[in-house]
Amino acid sequence: MTANEVIDREKEDICITPAFIGKFTNIFRKKNPDALINSANSNKLKRSLTAFDLTILGIGGVIGAGIFALSGTAAAGSSTHVGAGPAVMISLILAATACCLSALCYAEFAAMIPVAGSAYTYTYATLGEIAAWFIGWMLMLEYAIGNITVASSWSGYLMNFLKGFEGVLPNFITNPPLWLIHPYSIAAEKFKAAGLDPALNIPHLGPIPISMDLPAIFIIAVVTAFLYVGIKESTKMAFTMVVVKLIVICLFIGVGAFYVKPDNWVPFAPNGMKGIFVGAYLLFFAYIGFDAVSTAAEETKNPQRDLPIGILASLAICTVLYMAVAAVLTGMVPMNMIDTHAPIAAAMKTVNQNWIAGFISIGAIAGLTSVLLVLQLGASRILFAMSRDKLLPGVFSRIHSKFHTPHINTIILGSMIALLSLVLDLNAAAELCNIGTFTAFLMVCVGVLVLRKTDPGRHRPFKVPFAPVTPALGALICLVLIIFGLPSFKTLIMFGIWITIGMTIYFTYGFKKVSREHLTEEDTEILPLT
Ligand code: ALA
Repeated sequence: MTANEVIDREKEDICITPAFIGKFTNIFRKKNPDALINSANSNKLKRSLTAFDLTILGIGGVIGAGIFALSGTAAAGSSTHVGAGPAVMISLILAATACCLSALCYAEFAAMIPVAGSAYTYTYATLGEIAAWFIGWMLMLEYAIGNITVASSWSGYLMNFLKGFEGVLPNFITNPPLWLIHPYSIAAEKFKAAGLDPALNIPHLGPIPISMDLPAIFIIAVVTAFLYVGIKESTKMAFTMVVVKLIVICLFIGVGAFYVKPDNWVPFAPNGMKGIFVGAYLLFFAYIGFDAVSTAAEETKNPQRDLPIGILASLAICTVLYMAVAAVLTGMVPMNMIDTHAPIAAAMKTVNQNWIAGFISIGAIAGLTSVLLVLQLGASRILFAMSRDKLLPGVFSRIHSKFHTPHINTIILGSMIALLSLVLDLNAAAELCNIGTFTAFLMVCVGVLVLRKTDPGRHRPFKVPFAPVTPALGALICLVLIIFGLPSFKTLIMFGIWITIGMTIYFTYGFKKVSREHLTEEDTEILPLT
Protein backbone atom coordinates (compact mmCIF):
# COMPACT_ATOMS: atom_id res chain seq x y z
CA MET A 1 0.00 0.00 0.00
CA THR A 2 1.46 3.41 -0.95
CA ALA A 3 1.52 6.35 1.43
CA ASN A 4 -1.33 8.04 -0.46
CA GLU A 5 -3.43 4.89 -0.35
CA VAL A 6 -2.85 4.71 3.38
CA ILE A 7 -4.05 8.29 3.77
CA ASP A 8 -7.10 7.55 1.56
CA ARG A 9 -7.77 4.44 3.58
CA GLU A 10 -7.68 6.42 6.80
CA LYS A 11 -10.04 9.00 5.28
CA GLU A 12 -12.44 6.20 4.42
CA ASP A 13 -12.27 4.95 8.00
CA ILE A 14 -13.02 8.40 9.28
CA CYS A 15 -16.01 8.61 6.94
CA ILE A 16 -17.65 5.63 8.64
CA THR A 17 -18.30 7.59 11.83
CA PRO A 18 -17.01 10.88 13.28
CA ALA A 19 -13.22 10.78 13.42
CA PHE A 20 -12.53 9.64 16.95
CA ILE A 21 -15.37 7.15 17.20
CA GLY A 22 -14.58 5.90 13.71
CA LYS A 23 -11.04 5.07 14.73
CA PHE A 24 -12.14 3.64 18.04
CA THR A 25 -14.56 1.19 16.43
CA ASN A 26 -11.57 -0.32 14.61
CA ILE A 27 -10.81 -2.28 17.74
CA PHE A 28 -13.96 -4.27 16.94
CA ARG A 29 -13.06 -5.01 13.31
CA LYS A 30 -13.47 -8.66 12.47
CA LYS A 31 -11.82 -11.12 10.13
CA ASN A 32 -13.97 -12.77 7.57
CA PRO A 33 -13.66 -16.56 8.07
CA ASP A 34 -13.19 -17.03 4.28
CA ALA A 35 -10.29 -14.58 4.28
CA LEU A 36 -8.75 -16.47 7.19
CA ILE A 37 -9.07 -19.79 5.38
CA ASN A 38 -7.60 -18.29 2.18
CA SER A 39 -4.59 -16.87 3.97
CA ALA A 40 -4.09 -20.24 5.68
CA ASN A 41 -4.24 -22.04 2.34
CA SER A 42 -1.43 -19.88 1.01
CA ASN A 43 0.86 -20.61 3.96
CA LYS A 44 4.14 -22.43 3.68
CA LEU A 45 3.71 -24.71 6.70
CA LYS A 46 3.95 -28.38 5.80
CA ARG A 47 0.62 -30.32 5.88
CA SER A 48 1.73 -33.62 7.33
CA LEU A 49 -0.51 -34.47 10.31
CA THR A 50 -3.29 -37.07 10.37
CA ALA A 51 -6.16 -37.67 12.84
CA PHE A 52 -3.94 -40.23 14.57
CA ASP A 53 -1.06 -37.72 14.88
CA LEU A 54 -3.48 -35.16 16.30
CA THR A 55 -4.82 -37.60 18.89
CA ILE A 56 -1.23 -38.36 19.91
CA LEU A 57 -0.56 -34.61 20.09
CA GLY A 58 -3.66 -34.23 22.27
CA ILE A 59 -2.74 -37.04 24.66
CA GLY A 60 0.83 -35.74 24.59
CA GLY A 61 -0.38 -32.35 25.75
CA VAL A 62 -2.84 -33.58 28.35
CA ILE A 63 -1.38 -36.37 30.50
CA GLY A 64 1.27 -34.74 32.66
CA ALA A 65 1.70 -32.86 35.92
CA GLY A 66 -2.05 -32.99 36.55
CA ILE A 67 -2.30 -36.74 37.00
CA PHE A 68 1.30 -37.46 38.02
CA ALA A 69 1.42 -34.79 40.74
CA LEU A 70 -1.85 -32.89 41.39
CA SER A 71 -4.09 -35.96 41.70
CA GLY A 72 -2.59 -36.68 45.14
CA THR A 73 -3.33 -33.17 46.43
CA ALA A 74 -6.84 -33.29 44.97
CA ALA A 75 -7.57 -36.57 46.76
CA ALA A 76 -5.75 -36.05 50.06
CA GLY A 77 -6.01 -32.25 50.39
CA SER A 78 -3.26 -29.93 51.61
CA SER A 79 -2.65 -27.28 54.27
CA THR A 80 -4.73 -24.80 52.23
CA HIS A 81 -7.68 -26.91 51.06
CA VAL A 82 -9.67 -30.04 51.75
CA GLY A 83 -9.32 -33.23 49.74
CA ALA A 84 -12.02 -35.01 47.74
CA GLY A 85 -11.01 -38.49 48.96
CA PRO A 86 -12.13 -41.35 46.69
CA ALA A 87 -14.71 -38.89 45.29
CA VAL A 88 -11.80 -37.44 43.33
CA MET A 89 -13.30 -39.66 40.62
CA ILE A 90 -16.34 -37.35 40.63
CA SER A 91 -14.00 -34.32 40.56
CA LEU A 92 -12.41 -35.77 37.45
CA ILE A 93 -15.79 -36.20 35.80
CA LEU A 94 -16.74 -32.59 36.63
CA ALA A 95 -13.48 -31.22 35.26
CA ALA A 96 -13.84 -33.43 32.18
CA THR A 97 -17.40 -32.15 31.64
CA ALA A 98 -16.23 -28.53 31.67
CA CYS A 99 -13.49 -29.42 29.21
CA CYS A 100 -15.78 -31.55 27.05
CA LEU A 101 -18.29 -28.72 26.55
CA SER A 102 -15.47 -26.39 25.55
CA ALA A 103 -13.87 -29.14 23.44
CA LEU A 104 -17.07 -29.52 21.42
CA CYS A 105 -17.01 -25.77 20.74
CA TYR A 106 -13.34 -25.92 19.81
CA ALA A 107 -14.15 -28.78 17.44
CA GLU A 108 -16.92 -26.81 15.70
CA PHE A 109 -14.62 -23.85 15.19
CA ALA A 110 -11.58 -25.91 14.27
CA ALA A 111 -13.50 -27.74 11.54
CA MET A 112 -15.13 -24.55 10.25
CA ILE A 113 -12.04 -22.30 10.35
CA PRO A 114 -9.09 -24.72 10.14
CA VAL A 115 -6.44 -22.08 10.68
CA ALA A 116 -3.45 -21.91 13.04
CA GLY A 117 -4.15 -19.74 16.05
CA SER A 118 -6.92 -21.67 17.79
CA ALA A 119 -9.19 -19.60 20.03
CA TYR A 120 -7.36 -16.44 18.99
CA THR A 121 -8.41 -16.89 15.37
CA TYR A 122 -11.97 -17.93 16.19
CA THR A 123 -12.37 -14.84 18.33
CA TYR A 124 -11.06 -12.61 15.53
CA ALA A 125 -13.84 -13.95 13.32
CA THR A 126 -16.58 -13.52 15.89
CA LEU A 127 -15.95 -10.97 18.62
CA GLY A 128 -13.47 -8.71 16.84
CA GLU A 129 -9.85 -7.63 16.97
CA ILE A 130 -9.39 -6.43 20.52
CA ALA A 131 -11.09 -9.53 21.91
CA ALA A 132 -8.90 -11.66 19.64
CA TRP A 133 -5.74 -9.95 20.82
CA PHE A 134 -6.88 -10.35 24.41
CA ILE A 135 -7.55 -14.05 23.98
CA GLY A 136 -4.25 -14.61 22.13
CA TRP A 137 -2.54 -12.96 25.08
CA MET A 138 -4.50 -15.23 27.47
CA LEU A 139 -3.46 -18.29 25.46
CA MET A 140 0.14 -17.30 26.08
CA LEU A 141 -0.66 -17.70 29.78
CA GLU A 142 -2.07 -21.16 29.12
CA TYR A 143 0.63 -22.48 26.83
CA ALA A 144 3.79 -20.54 27.62
CA ILE A 145 3.35 -19.76 31.34
CA GLY A 146 1.71 -23.18 31.88
CA ASN A 147 4.91 -24.66 30.53
CA ILE A 148 6.86 -23.14 33.40
CA THR A 149 4.74 -25.25 35.79
CA VAL A 150 5.30 -28.37 33.73
CA ALA A 151 9.04 -27.73 33.37
CA SER A 152 9.32 -27.25 37.16
CA SER A 153 7.50 -30.56 37.74
CA TRP A 154 9.80 -32.20 35.19
CA SER A 155 12.78 -30.92 37.11
CA GLY A 156 11.28 -32.18 40.40
CA TYR A 157 10.67 -35.68 39.01
CA LEU A 158 14.15 -35.80 37.50
CA MET A 159 15.77 -34.89 40.80
CA ASN A 160 13.58 -37.44 42.55
CA PHE A 161 14.67 -40.08 40.05
CA LEU A 162 18.37 -39.15 40.34
CA LYS A 163 18.16 -39.37 44.13
CA GLY A 164 17.57 -43.08 43.68
CA PHE A 165 21.19 -43.29 42.42
CA GLU A 166 22.73 -41.81 45.58
CA GLY A 167 26.13 -43.40 46.12
CA VAL A 168 26.28 -44.53 42.49
CA LEU A 169 26.31 -41.15 40.72
CA PRO A 170 28.45 -38.20 41.90
CA ASN A 171 26.97 -36.21 44.77
CA PHE A 172 26.68 -32.96 42.77
CA ILE A 173 24.23 -34.76 40.45
CA THR A 174 22.13 -36.51 43.08
CA ASN A 175 22.19 -33.60 45.56
CA PRO A 176 22.91 -30.37 43.66
CA PRO A 177 22.83 -27.01 45.51
CA LEU A 178 19.30 -25.68 45.94
CA TRP A 179 20.09 -22.53 43.95
CA LEU A 180 20.77 -24.66 40.87
CA ILE A 181 17.42 -26.46 40.91
CA HIS A 182 14.97 -23.77 42.06
CA PRO A 183 14.10 -20.17 41.15
CA TYR A 184 15.15 -17.66 43.82
CA SER A 185 11.81 -17.51 45.69
CA ILE A 186 11.68 -21.27 46.26
CA ALA A 187 15.39 -21.64 47.01
CA ALA A 188 15.20 -18.82 49.58
CA GLU A 189 12.12 -20.41 51.17
CA LYS A 190 13.87 -23.76 51.45
CA PHE A 191 17.00 -22.25 52.99
CA LYS A 192 14.87 -20.35 55.51
CA ALA A 193 12.94 -23.55 56.36
CA ALA A 194 16.28 -25.22 57.06
CA GLY A 195 17.23 -22.35 59.37
CA LEU A 196 19.86 -21.01 56.94
CA ASP A 197 20.26 -17.44 55.72
CA PRO A 198 19.48 -17.29 51.95
CA ALA A 199 21.74 -14.22 51.54
CA LEU A 200 24.73 -16.27 52.68
CA ASN A 201 23.85 -19.47 50.86
CA ILE A 202 22.74 -18.19 47.46
CA PRO A 203 25.58 -16.69 45.37
CA HIS A 204 25.18 -13.08 44.17
CA LEU A 205 26.43 -11.20 41.16
CA GLY A 206 26.60 -7.75 42.69
CA PRO A 207 23.09 -7.21 44.10
CA ILE A 208 21.53 -9.92 41.87
CA PRO A 209 21.02 -13.37 43.43
CA ILE A 210 21.98 -16.26 41.14
CA SER A 211 19.34 -18.95 41.53
CA MET A 212 17.65 -20.89 38.76
CA ASP A 213 15.96 -24.16 37.95
CA LEU A 214 18.67 -25.42 35.64
CA PRO A 215 17.03 -28.78 34.73
CA ALA A 216 13.83 -26.86 33.80
CA ILE A 217 15.79 -24.48 31.58
CA PHE A 218 17.61 -27.44 30.04
CA ILE A 219 14.38 -29.24 29.05
CA ILE A 220 12.87 -26.02 27.66
CA ALA A 221 16.00 -25.65 25.47
CA VAL A 222 15.71 -29.26 24.24
CA VAL A 223 12.02 -28.82 23.39
CA THR A 224 12.77 -25.55 21.58
CA ALA A 225 15.42 -27.31 19.49
CA PHE A 226 12.94 -30.03 18.48
CA LEU A 227 10.29 -27.50 17.50
CA TYR A 228 12.87 -25.57 15.47
CA VAL A 229 13.58 -28.64 13.36
CA GLY A 230 9.99 -29.54 12.51
CA ILE A 231 6.52 -30.42 13.61
CA LYS A 232 6.57 -33.95 12.21
CA GLU A 233 9.84 -34.60 14.01
CA SER A 234 8.31 -33.09 17.13
CA THR A 235 5.24 -35.30 16.92
CA LYS A 236 7.56 -38.29 16.43
CA MET A 237 9.26 -37.35 19.68
CA ALA A 238 5.85 -36.77 21.30
CA PHE A 239 4.73 -40.18 20.02
CA THR A 240 7.58 -41.97 21.79
CA MET A 241 6.87 -40.03 24.99
CA VAL A 242 3.15 -40.75 24.76
CA VAL A 243 3.76 -44.49 24.32
CA VAL A 244 6.04 -44.52 27.38
CA LYS A 245 3.57 -42.67 29.57
CA LEU A 246 0.62 -44.78 28.41
CA ILE A 247 2.54 -47.98 29.21
CA VAL A 248 3.40 -46.64 32.65
CA ILE A 249 -0.19 -45.60 33.39
CA CYS A 250 -1.58 -48.93 32.20
CA LEU A 251 1.05 -50.71 34.30
CA PHE A 252 -0.08 -48.75 37.35
CA ILE A 253 -3.73 -49.54 36.69
CA GLY A 254 -3.05 -53.22 35.87
CA VAL A 255 -0.74 -53.96 38.81
CA GLY A 256 -2.41 -51.58 41.27
CA ALA A 257 -5.83 -53.19 40.69
CA PHE A 258 -4.58 -56.29 42.54
CA TYR A 259 -3.84 -54.20 45.63
CA VAL A 260 -7.15 -52.33 45.80
CA LYS A 261 -8.98 -52.71 49.10
CA PRO A 262 -12.63 -51.64 48.65
CA ASP A 263 -12.62 -50.54 52.34
CA ASN A 264 -10.42 -47.61 51.30
CA TRP A 265 -13.32 -46.27 49.20
CA VAL A 266 -15.38 -45.73 52.35
CA PRO A 267 -16.25 -42.97 53.16
CA PHE A 268 -16.47 -42.06 49.52
CA ALA A 269 -16.66 -38.25 49.88
CA PRO A 270 -15.26 -37.38 53.33
CA ASN A 271 -15.39 -33.63 52.66
CA GLY A 272 -18.65 -33.59 50.71
CA MET A 273 -19.28 -31.29 47.76
CA LYS A 274 -16.61 -28.83 48.87
CA GLY A 275 -13.87 -31.43 48.54
CA ILE A 276 -15.26 -32.51 45.18
CA PHE A 277 -15.35 -28.95 43.77
CA VAL A 278 -11.87 -28.08 45.00
CA GLY A 279 -10.65 -31.31 43.41
CA ALA A 280 -12.37 -30.43 40.14
CA TYR A 281 -10.78 -26.99 40.10
CA LEU A 282 -7.31 -28.43 40.72
CA LEU A 283 -7.68 -31.25 38.27
CA PHE A 284 -8.85 -28.95 35.51
CA PHE A 285 -5.12 -28.44 34.98
CA ALA A 286 -4.83 -32.15 34.17
CA TYR A 287 -6.98 -31.70 31.04
CA ILE A 288 -5.32 -28.54 29.73
CA GLY A 289 -3.63 -29.24 26.43
CA PHE A 290 -6.33 -30.92 24.32
CA ASP A 291 -7.06 -27.55 22.74
CA ALA A 292 -3.47 -27.32 21.50
CA VAL A 293 -4.55 -29.78 18.80
CA SER A 294 -6.48 -27.00 17.09
CA THR A 295 -3.35 -24.84 16.81
CA ALA A 296 -1.88 -27.36 14.37
CA ALA A 297 -4.77 -26.87 11.92
CA GLU A 298 -2.60 -25.60 9.08
CA GLU A 299 -0.25 -28.53 9.35
CA THR A 300 -3.10 -31.08 9.13
CA LYS A 301 -3.82 -32.97 5.92
CA ASN A 302 -7.61 -33.02 6.26
CA PRO A 303 -8.34 -30.53 9.05
CA GLN A 304 -12.12 -30.45 8.76
CA ARG A 305 -12.44 -34.16 9.46
CA ASP A 306 -9.35 -34.74 11.58
CA LEU A 307 -9.43 -31.82 14.03
CA PRO A 308 -12.70 -32.77 15.74
CA ILE A 309 -11.52 -36.41 15.89
CA GLY A 310 -8.16 -35.39 17.39
CA ILE A 311 -9.68 -33.08 20.01
CA LEU A 312 -12.50 -35.34 21.15
CA ALA A 313 -10.59 -38.65 20.96
CA SER A 314 -7.68 -37.37 23.06
CA LEU A 315 -10.04 -35.94 25.66
CA ALA A 316 -12.07 -39.18 25.84
CA ILE A 317 -9.00 -41.43 26.17
CA CYS A 318 -7.47 -39.24 28.89
CA THR A 319 -10.73 -39.10 30.87
CA VAL A 320 -11.05 -42.91 30.93
CA LEU A 321 -7.43 -43.34 31.99
CA TYR A 322 -7.68 -40.66 34.69
CA MET A 323 -10.78 -42.27 36.17
CA ALA A 324 -9.06 -45.65 36.32
CA VAL A 325 -5.93 -44.14 37.91
CA ALA A 326 -8.04 -42.32 40.52
CA ALA A 327 -10.03 -45.46 41.34
CA VAL A 328 -6.88 -47.56 41.79
CA LEU A 329 -4.96 -44.88 43.69
CA THR A 330 -7.71 -44.24 46.23
CA GLY A 331 -8.43 -47.97 46.48
CA MET A 332 -4.78 -48.82 47.16
CA VAL A 333 -3.86 -46.13 49.68
CA PRO A 334 -5.99 -44.78 52.56
CA MET A 335 -6.80 -41.11 51.95
CA ASN A 336 -4.58 -39.71 54.71
CA MET A 337 -1.59 -41.66 53.41
CA ILE A 338 -1.72 -40.53 49.77
CA ASP A 339 1.52 -38.81 48.78
CA THR A 340 0.96 -35.31 47.41
CA HIS A 341 4.19 -34.95 45.42
CA ALA A 342 4.45 -38.16 43.42
CA PRO A 343 1.26 -40.01 44.40
CA ILE A 344 1.31 -42.71 41.76
CA ALA A 345 4.93 -43.75 42.21
CA ALA A 346 4.56 -43.53 46.00
CA ALA A 347 1.46 -45.78 45.93
CA MET A 348 3.55 -48.52 44.31
CA LYS A 349 6.21 -48.11 46.98
CA THR A 350 3.61 -48.65 49.72
CA VAL A 351 2.96 -52.13 48.31
CA ASN A 352 6.70 -52.77 47.89
CA GLN A 353 6.61 -52.63 44.09
CA ASN A 354 9.72 -50.46 43.99
CA TRP A 355 10.76 -51.32 40.47
CA ILE A 356 7.33 -50.29 39.15
CA ALA A 357 7.67 -47.05 41.15
CA GLY A 358 10.97 -46.42 39.32
CA PHE A 359 9.31 -47.05 35.97
CA ILE A 360 6.55 -44.63 36.89
CA SER A 361 9.09 -41.89 37.54
CA ILE A 362 10.57 -42.48 34.08
CA GLY A 363 7.04 -42.37 32.61
CA ALA A 364 6.32 -39.11 34.40
CA ILE A 365 9.51 -37.55 33.01
CA ALA A 366 8.55 -38.71 29.50
CA GLY A 367 4.93 -37.61 29.98
CA LEU A 368 5.89 -34.15 31.13
CA THR A 369 8.30 -33.78 28.21
CA SER A 370 5.54 -34.39 25.69
CA VAL A 371 3.28 -31.87 27.47
CA LEU A 372 6.07 -29.30 27.17
CA LEU A 373 6.42 -30.07 23.50
CA VAL A 374 2.74 -29.74 22.69
CA LEU A 375 2.10 -26.61 24.75
CA GLN A 376 5.12 -24.83 23.32
CA LEU A 377 4.06 -25.83 19.83
CA GLY A 378 0.64 -24.29 20.54
CA ALA A 379 2.18 -21.05 21.83
CA SER A 380 4.41 -20.66 18.80
CA ARG A 381 1.56 -21.26 16.32
CA ILE A 382 -0.58 -18.63 18.05
CA LEU A 383 2.23 -16.08 17.83
CA PHE A 384 2.58 -17.09 14.18
CA ALA A 385 -1.09 -16.38 13.50
CA MET A 386 -0.99 -13.05 15.37
CA SER A 387 2.05 -11.97 13.40
CA ARG A 388 0.46 -12.96 10.09
CA ASP A 389 -2.49 -10.77 11.06
CA LYS A 390 0.03 -7.91 11.65
CA LEU A 391 -0.73 -7.71 15.34
CA LEU A 392 2.88 -8.73 16.03
CA PRO A 393 6.07 -8.03 14.05
CA GLY A 394 6.64 -10.09 10.89
CA VAL A 395 9.59 -11.90 12.41
CA PHE A 396 7.13 -14.09 14.34
CA SER A 397 5.71 -15.51 11.11
CA ARG A 398 8.97 -15.93 9.19
CA ILE A 399 9.30 -19.53 8.02
CA HIS A 400 12.55 -21.49 7.85
CA SER A 401 13.36 -22.30 4.21
CA LYS A 402 14.36 -25.90 4.94
CA PHE A 403 12.38 -26.94 8.02
CA HIS A 404 9.20 -24.98 7.20
CA THR A 405 8.78 -23.98 10.83
CA PRO A 406 8.43 -20.50 12.35
CA HIS A 407 11.98 -20.86 13.63
CA ILE A 408 12.71 -17.36 14.94
CA ASN A 409 9.41 -17.25 16.78
CA THR A 410 10.25 -20.66 18.30
CA ILE A 411 13.59 -19.41 19.61
CA ILE A 412 12.17 -16.15 20.98
CA LEU A 413 9.40 -18.06 22.73
CA GLY A 414 11.74 -20.69 24.23
CA SER A 415 14.03 -17.92 25.50
CA MET A 416 11.10 -16.02 27.04
CA ILE A 417 9.81 -19.13 28.83
CA ALA A 418 13.30 -19.89 30.15
CA LEU A 419 13.73 -16.28 31.32
CA LEU A 420 10.34 -16.14 33.02
CA SER A 421 11.09 -19.42 34.79
CA LEU A 422 13.73 -17.44 36.71
CA VAL A 423 11.07 -15.30 38.38
CA LEU A 424 7.87 -17.38 38.38
CA ASP A 425 7.62 -20.41 40.61
CA LEU A 426 5.53 -23.50 39.89
CA ASN A 427 2.39 -22.41 41.77
CA ALA A 428 2.32 -18.83 40.52
CA ALA A 429 2.71 -20.08 36.96
CA ALA A 430 -0.08 -22.67 37.45
CA GLU A 431 -2.52 -20.08 38.80
CA LEU A 432 -1.81 -17.70 35.93
CA CYS A 433 -2.16 -20.58 33.48
CA ASN A 434 -5.57 -21.53 34.91
CA ILE A 435 -7.03 -18.03 34.59
CA GLY A 436 -5.80 -17.75 31.02
CA THR A 437 -7.30 -21.11 30.10
CA PHE A 438 -10.71 -20.50 31.68
CA THR A 439 -10.92 -17.17 29.88
CA ALA A 440 -9.96 -18.73 26.55
CA PHE A 441 -12.49 -21.58 26.93
CA LEU A 442 -15.19 -19.12 27.94
CA MET A 443 -14.63 -16.99 24.87
CA VAL A 444 -14.62 -19.97 22.52
CA CYS A 445 -18.03 -21.05 23.89
CA VAL A 446 -19.38 -17.52 23.49
CA GLY A 447 -17.83 -17.32 20.02
CA VAL A 448 -19.76 -20.40 18.84
CA LEU A 449 -23.02 -18.79 19.98
CA VAL A 450 -22.14 -15.51 18.25
CA LEU A 451 -21.19 -17.10 14.93
CA ARG A 452 -24.31 -19.28 14.91
CA LYS A 453 -26.30 -16.02 15.06
CA THR A 454 -24.21 -13.83 12.74
CA ASP A 455 -23.31 -16.47 10.13
CA PRO A 456 -25.90 -19.25 10.39
CA GLY A 457 -25.48 -20.36 6.77
CA ARG A 458 -21.74 -21.14 6.98
CA HIS A 459 -20.77 -24.75 6.29
CA ARG A 460 -20.05 -26.49 9.59
CA PRO A 461 -18.44 -29.91 9.03
CA PHE A 462 -18.85 -30.53 12.78
CA LYS A 463 -21.66 -29.02 14.85
CA VAL A 464 -21.88 -28.79 18.63
CA PRO A 465 -24.89 -30.93 19.56
CA PHE A 466 -27.78 -29.31 21.46
CA ALA A 467 -26.64 -25.73 20.77
CA PRO A 468 -27.24 -23.17 22.18
CA VAL A 469 -27.53 -25.11 25.48
CA THR A 470 -24.14 -26.84 25.22
CA PRO A 471 -22.00 -23.73 24.49
CA ALA A 472 -23.97 -21.66 27.01
CA LEU A 473 -23.43 -24.30 29.70
CA GLY A 474 -19.73 -24.50 28.78
CA ALA A 475 -19.38 -20.72 29.17
CA LEU A 476 -21.27 -20.80 32.47
CA ILE A 477 -19.11 -23.56 33.95
CA CYS A 478 -15.92 -21.70 32.97
CA LEU A 479 -17.26 -18.53 34.57
CA VAL A 480 -18.19 -20.37 37.77
CA LEU A 481 -14.74 -21.96 37.91
CA ILE A 482 -13.05 -18.56 37.42
CA ILE A 483 -15.11 -17.09 40.28
CA PHE A 484 -14.82 -20.01 42.69
CA GLY A 485 -11.20 -20.70 41.94
CA LEU A 486 -10.40 -17.05 42.58
CA PRO A 487 -6.61 -16.93 42.76
CA SER A 488 -4.40 -15.25 45.36
CA PHE A 489 -3.95 -11.49 45.48
CA LYS A 490 -0.38 -11.84 44.19
CA THR A 491 -1.64 -13.74 41.14
CA LEU A 492 -4.35 -11.15 40.49
CA ILE A 493 -1.68 -8.43 40.50
CA MET A 494 0.44 -10.43 38.06
CA PHE A 495 -2.65 -11.04 35.91
CA GLY A 496 -3.31 -7.27 35.89
CA ILE A 497 0.30 -6.58 34.88
CA TRP A 498 0.07 -9.20 32.12
CA ILE A 499 -3.11 -7.60 30.73
CA THR A 500 -1.57 -4.11 30.92
CA ILE A 501 1.54 -5.21 29.01
CA GLY A 502 -0.67 -6.93 26.41
CA MET A 503 -2.93 -3.93 25.89
CA THR A 504 0.07 -1.58 25.66
CA ILE A 505 1.58 -3.72 22.90
CA TYR A 506 -1.78 -3.83 21.11
CA PHE A 507 -2.41 -0.09 21.12
CA THR A 508 1.17 0.95 20.41
CA TYR A 509 1.88 -1.69 17.74
CA GLY A 510 -0.83 -4.04 16.49
CA PHE A 511 -3.76 -1.64 16.35
CA LYS A 512 -1.76 0.97 14.40
CA LYS A 513 -0.09 -1.56 12.15
CA VAL A 514 -3.34 -3.28 11.14
CA SER A 515 -4.99 0.10 10.55
CA ARG A 516 -2.20 1.21 8.25
CA GLU A 517 -1.19 -1.91 6.39
CA HIS A 518 -3.68 -4.67 6.52
CA LEU A 519 -7.14 -3.23 5.96
CA THR A 520 -8.98 -4.41 2.90
CA GLU A 521 -12.71 -4.11 2.28
CA GLU A 522 -13.02 -7.88 1.81
CA ASP A 523 -11.51 -9.25 4.97
CA THR A 524 -12.55 -6.64 7.49
CA GLU A 525 -15.87 -5.49 8.71
CA ILE A 526 -16.48 -2.53 11.00
CA LEU A 527 -19.18 -3.20 13.54
CA PRO A 528 -21.67 -0.37 13.97
CA LEU A 529 -21.70 1.24 17.39
CA THR A 530 -24.73 0.34 19.43
N1 ALA B 1 -2.59 -31.21 31.29
C1 ALA B 1 -1.22 -30.93 31.43
C2 ALA B 1 -0.64 -31.56 32.65
O1 ALA B 1 -1.33 -32.22 33.38
C3 ALA B 1 -0.95 -29.48 31.37
O2 ALA B 1 0.53 -31.41 32.90
